[in-house]
Amino acid sequence: MDDLKAKYLGQIADAADESALETIRVAAVGKKGEVALKMRELGKMTPEQRQVAGPALNALKNEINSALIAKKSGLADKALDERLRTEWLDVTLPTRARRVGTLHPVSQASEELTAIFAELGFSVAEGPRIDTDWYNFDALNIPSHHPARAEMDTFYMHRAEGDDRPPHVLRTHTSPVQIRSMEKMGAPLRIICPGGVYRADYDHTHTPMFHQVEGLALDTDISMANLKWTLEEFVKAFFEVDNVELRFRASHFPFTEPSAEVDIRCSWKDGTLKIGEGDDWFEILGSGMVHPSVIAAGGIDPDVYQGFAFGIGIDRLAMLKYGIPDLRAFFESDLRWLRHYGFQCLDMPSLHGGLSR
Ligand code: PHE
Repeated sequence: MDDLKAKYLGQIADAADESALETIRVAAVGKKGEVALKMRELGKMTPEQRQVAGPALNALKNEINSALIAKKSGLADKALDERLRTEWLDVTLPTRARRVGTLHPVSQASEELTAIFAELGFSVAEGPRIDTDWYNFDALNIPSHHPARAEMDTFYMHRAEGDDRPPHVLRTHTSPVQIRSMEKMGAPLRIICPGGVYRADYDHTHTPMFHQVEGLALDTDISMANLKWTLEEFVKAFFEVDNVELRFRASHFPFTEPSAEVDIRCSWKDGTLKIGEGDDWFEILGSGMVHPSVIAAGGIDPDVYQGFAFGIGIDRLAMLKYGIPDLRAFFESDLRWLRHYGFQCLDMPSLHGGLSR
């Protein structure tokens, strides 16, 4: 019995896996195993012999069974450890990029131009889309009788009869933010203000709501040359090319003197819009030296400070840069259009990292 015990406990200790253990179990304590065979021999023994051998055989059987169970759970623990060691997961790995919605080309263009003007020292200013006619017109040197008011196709806010609050309009341009910024910040000053504006107009290059970015730089030694340089630098950076053909055209705005409108050379062929080629010119901005009356309306002394201002059509920039021929589609919320012309979210444009990738 001591030999049996030593043999099987040794085999159990050496068993490499569960199937080896099962083979040992059958050979040792199975129905026809060695211990069972020994038990059958009890019948041939004398009662005295049996009294000693019976309990001893039972004890042996129990001991082998316990050893089998202990080894089995030891093997299972080892197998689990092994699995945990090989099936590891690095939770610090970045996730796979997945598109979550798209960024509208106007948002993308706004981010891009903000990055460029930030680099030129302009900070972002804001103003309300519903403003008084004083900020939208009077302060900008457009008194109520001025023909420019009629030309603007202004949306006026409804006023109940007897309501004598000052008239409000949906701002027709971002220029009222010039006045608000001068009031708030004084001079010297360098700001841009991107945002929505409203005019009653509708065709493939005009929509009742569109976007402009206003720019204003005030200091004691600013000239038209600074304006021209700034606009040229901006356009080169925005279109990501060394040469874009610009045309400065003498123009007139009540709030700038002298004034210039700027066009970009482009072609419209077979429903596609291309920049830098062709015989067409597409107007993208109005600009000029800020009129002294406007500087005074902003609470700043026009004898000390002068400056330039510009208003650029953001939607028009986006049309040119991304070759989108019809402005009306910008505001139709067609998902197929958005997926085609949209941009990856969370992809912040910067001059160093790239504007549009
Ligand atoms: N506000 C003008 C417009 O909407 C653009 C402009 C802005 C012109 C600033 C000159 C200076 O057309």
